[in-house]
Amino acid sequence: MLDLQTSLAQPHVTRRAEYTPPDWQVPEIALDFALDAAATRVKATLHVQRGDLHQRPLRLDGASQTLLSVKVDGVAVNDWTLDGETLVLPLSGSAHVIETEVEIAPERNTQLMGLYASGGNLCTQCEAEGFRRITYFPDRPDVLSRYHVRMSADKARYPVLLANGDPIAAGELEGGRHWAEWRDPFPKPCYLFALVAGELAVNRGSFVTMSGREVELGIWVRAADIDRTHHALDALKTSMAWDERVYGREYDLDVFNIVAVDDFNFGAMENKGLNVFNSRYILADPDTATDYDYDAIAAVVAHEYFHNWSGNRVTCRDWFQLSLKEGFTVYRDQAFSADQGSAAVKRIEDVRGLRASQFPEDAGPLAHPIRPDEYQEISNFYTATIYNKGAEIIGMLATILGREKFRAGTDLYFDRFDGTAATCEDFVASLEDASGIDLTQFRRWYGQAGTPRVTASLHHTEGSGRAELVLAQRTPPTPGQEHKLPLVLPLRIKLFGAETAQTVAPEQTILLTDAEERIVFEGVTERPVLSINRGFSAPAILETDRTAADLAFLGAHDDDPFARYEALQQLMLDTLVAAAGNNRADTAAVVKAVAGTLADATLDPAFIAEAVLLPSESFIGDQMAVVDPEAIFRAREALRREIGRTLEADWRAAYDESQATGSGYVYSPEAKGLRRLKSVALGYIAASGASDAAALAFAQFEAADNMTDRQSALTTLVAGDSAERIAALDIFYNRYSDNALVLDKWFSVQAMAPRDDTGAMVAELLRHRAFTLTNPNRARALIGAFGVNQRAFNAVDGSGYRLLAEQLIALDRINPQTAAKLIAPLGRWQRYDAARGGMMRAELARIVKTPGLSKDMFEQASKSLD
Ligand code: ARG
Ligand code: ZN
Repeated sequence: MLDLQTSLAQPHVTRRAEYTPPDWQVPEIALDFALDAAATRVKATLHVQRGDLHQRPLRLDGASQTLLSVKVDGVAVNDWTLDGETLVLPLSGSAHVIETEVEIAPERNTQLMGLYASGGNLCTQCEAEGFRRITYFPDRPDVLSRYHVRMSADKARYPVLLANGDPIAAGELEGGRHWAEWRDPFPKPCYLFALVAGELAVNRGSFVTMSGREVELGIWVRAADIDRTHHALDALKTSMAWDERVYGREYDLDVFNIVAVDDFNFGAMENKGLNVFNSRYILADPDTATDYDYDAIAAVVAHEYFHNWSGNRVTCRDWFQLSLKEGFTVYRDQAFSADQGSAAVKRIEDVRGLRASQFPEDAGPLAHPIRPDEYQEISNFYTATIYNKGAEIIGMLATILGREKFRAGTDLYFDRFDGTAATCEDFVASLEDASGIDLTQFRRWYGQAGTPRVTASLHHTEGSGRAELVLAQRTPPTPGQEHKLPLVLPLRIKLFGAETAQTVAPEQTILLTDAEERIVFEGVTERPVLSINRGFSAPAILETDRTAADLAFLGAHDDDPFARYEALQQLMLDTLVAAAGNNRADTAAVVKAVAGTLADATLDPAFIAEAVLLPSESFIGDQMAVVDPEAIFRAREALRREIGRTLEADWRAAYDESQATGSGYVYSPEAKGLRRLKSVALGYIAASGASDAAALAFAQFEAADNMTDRQSALTTLVAGDSAERIAALDIFYNRYSDNALVLDKWFSVQAMAPRDDTGAMVAELLRHRAFTLTNPNRARALIGAFGVNQRAFNAVDGSGYRLLAEQLIALDRINPQTAAKLIAPLGRWQRYDAARGGMMRAELARIVKTPGLSKDMFEQASKSLD
């Protein structure tokens, strides 16, 4: 039962400017579920109240359900109508009780929105508009209700019955059924409703809040996975303490439950008191999860927990305000993760992620501001822009206000808007009122799309004692926004002396607000080198006139770790862009900088591992006028080989040293850093072409006592052509054939492989018996990973484009949301040569013309064509 629409129909567009408050409020709702996978009956009792003086009927959203009966104030009525799938009820008074009964079919719900079945259990996902697939209701975030939920189910199949809030009663029924009742005292929008029924085991914990209340914690999974829940439970407790300490936010219910499910459209969901997670963000043990997985689990657990305040206690007025909760909550979870280990490495990872997914979005056909003006399908706006650029914008506010005023601002925001549905403007006004800092111009960040480009050139005349920094900003046009205004860019800047490496001008934060500005530095006694956008203080693209020597200097001396990393990356990037364009490239300077970094005993191994990695193929391509994937690949591989060969002895030494981590897997920042450096070193040893590289990787693969080492060895082997490659893939598959999350890795490693035959391999893997489009993780592991493999996806014969389009069309019939998310690589056609661009457009056009396309996919594909 898909929300089908033909591509010929005019899509319905929702506009921010057309917001009006709800006609009817629903302060109370009681739900009664008779659960069954094939046919679930839902009785809903809504206490509705008419809003300000109007005569309009009650309109309740609905989708994919069968309406059985309607009562008003206890009396069956039949004067209702359906406007499309919206139930319209004429009502005479100012307050009424509406009862509906509907039937839904969870096991046929392949979209995974609303109530659906996963692994024999039943669960819900309602954000953004899934609740209307459960019952008739005003499905919009500014209608807040108190929920009372009763459910009954077969006790043998569904022994555990969970919902939001606190459990209040339970009992037995005839025919092997049982029931439970839950009540959530906090009014909430329906997108935060959740229910889970199934056969689940629980790992329990407890947390005492800052005011001394004890909260019972539970992580619910299938019994066989219970030993893989300890890390998530620890992360939950750490998150709860962190939000008290850093934001003064205390948890507010007596229980907090998390359920892990295998079939899930995204990462996780912050339903009040009952978070539902994709199992990949809960389950971990050393044998099956990498360090990256451990980090991601802690980050997502924290993210969803933090939503209890930034999202639930204060929610969004409408979906245009999505970044109000998501940008802020990502900012909070990033700060949390930074506090758990190396803040510098965390910042590097976050900026790398932003550049990999958000910058291309901002530069492409789907660019939108963090507070969009219109949408066809809101699910398409759960983007890197709303989440990650949104987080950067909160980060700039924190920089501009400073720690104390920022905290005063968030306190005021939570205080003012607790229990309400707020707007981005409410948030900014709170920060403004608490700090006394005028944010008028800053507000442009909310409405303007596109990544600003900042040019910086530093002028110094020897002997003058003065230096002048000329800064200019410009944001390129994006679809629908031809002319851009100057933004407020907080740029952390410092000058170093080129000879002494001493500080010539101490760090300061410059607020660039005009299109062009000049800053004068006095007392500059030696040639200064510019360190700018330290800590990535503004999400901009910097173009400076620094020479390769300046970058190498900063790469060796800058005392801001992010700036140091950035200088090395820029040096590598300039070299690779030149090499890919057949221009003279000074690769020796890169090799020297890498050698110096690797040898610097004062540096944290985790930092070294990040700093010596070459920029990704896609990031290199982003710097070119026309992306040439083959040339980029060749240039990057050649430089990898040169770095590998020239420094082979150093890589081997680094490899051996980071081996010596003692026995047994430890998840600590230090141990993680060593494993990371070890895997980077292994990659370079293999890139050098050393004859023993495959044997070394295979030995690591076999000896590994953890997935981090095993997967990195497999990745290295899969890139080469050794006999060990096939052996390792087989061993890995057989060893983990019953673990879906690890099998996802097996698919991804192959789809991302830098091989000539990757396209053919992926085509074959699509027919593998373990492959299915019905599980989003599996679809993403193969199709999603292939789409970001620059060289394979952009094969010159167009086979990669065709493969992706065919899979997207097939997946759209099953799960439109998940399909629409994977289209971005095809939308980059303007960045390629005419032949590739033409083939990509042809595939987009084919998708748009597909009969019965979802509105999710129609919006993304048609916009990508423009
Ligand atoms: N609110 C959830 C989170 O950020 C994600 C919900 C995604 N919903 C969607 N329709 N894509 O944690
Ligand atoms: Zn979120």
